[in-house]
Amino acid sequence: MLLVVSGLRVSYPAPGGRVTVVRGADFAVESGECLAIVGESGSGKSQALLATLGLAGPGAEVSGSALFEGEELVGMPSRRLQQLRGDRIGLVFQDSITGLTPHMTVGEQLAEVLVVHRGAGRQAARAEAREMLEVLQIPEPDYRLGQYPHELSGGMRQRIMIAMALLCRPSLLVADEPTTALDTTVQAAILRSFAKLKQHAGTALILVSHDLGVVAGLADRVAVMYAGRIVEMAPAERLFAAPRHPYTQGLLASTPRLDRAPSAPLPAIDGQPPDPASVPEEACAFRPRCKVARPACAAGRPPPVEVAPGHRVACLAAEPA
Ligand SMILES: Nc1ncnc2c1ncn2[C@@H]1O[C@H](COP(=O)(O)OP(=O)(O)OP(=O)(O)O)[C@@H](O)[C@H]1O
Ligand SMILES: [Mg+2]
Repeated sequence: MLLVVSGLRVSYPAPGGRVTVVRGADFAVESGECLAIVGESGSGKSQALLATLGLAGPGAEVSGSALFEGEELVGMPSRRLQQLRGDRIGLVFQDSITGLTPHMTVGEQLAEVLVVHRGAGRQAARAEAREMLEVLQIPEPDYRLGQYPHELSGGMRQRIMIAMALLCRPSLLVADEPTTALDTTVQAAILRSFAKLKQHAGTALILVSHDLGVVAGLADRVAVMYAGRIVEMAPAERLFAAPRHPYTQGLLASTPRLDRAPSAPLPAIDGQPPDPASVPEEACAFRPRCKVARPACAAGRPPPVEVAPGHRVACLAAEPA
């Protein structure tokens, strides 16, 4: 395994004590594999990834383990983490944390990445940057390289950020809603290039997306996050065909589908996503919204059970099949 995250917990200071936003997340990804993480807003997807990469916010306490190519990331000195992030691990975040510098052209900043991390010469670095824009099917690469970030549309900026994340040919790309701001044709081009990198360069991908269509098209495995925990994890085909956690079932059922009459109401999951400050530590967090909850669900947190090869579910109602 390229990255193995286990027992990851993230908490922040809050009035009246700390609030835990990731409560023991376990996931792993292999070279050349795409793991998608899905779940409602606020379930802790971004926090789990940011904390794994040493980018949790000020005041965060992070515990657990994240082994990347055998090295422990939790507690790693920030210099070493920074080095890994530009080089072995590429990042594309929804809020563009690794933003573009306004006073440098696209070409200059892309080349800079290779000069700094790979010791490449300027000339060679620029040629490689151009090649990456071609891989990502960005039209008129030479023209783009000469532009400044403010001259680019939001969507084009996002594509340049993706190019930047991929330039050092990282072994892992972590992408948090990478295509949300893009129109569907551009999105399709980006997703095709992700698939190509995965297949030909063996790049592993962790993808967070609200778009289950995107997930279905790219993911090998899917992890479903609820209230700071992975409640279900399965090979993608199996997850879509036979979801076992009542939350996953609700999530899939609430997605618009072409084969359903447009007038049919979308079955939604009742209730609100829980506030991290009030999630019980010793009960199933989904219980208040769950249609199949039983008294035992209040008595203890359900442990993940393997119901089929590679298919784990943390729910008392999911009997091994
Ligand atoms: N710096 C912070 N301090 C305190 N709480 C935070 C901080 N950052 C995030 N949180 C809280 O952590 C929880 C998880 O947030 P996170 O951003 O991981 O959700 P998400 O699953 O990525 O949601 P979305 O799909 O909307 O991006 C939320 O309740 C959020 O308010
Ligand atoms: Mg997020």
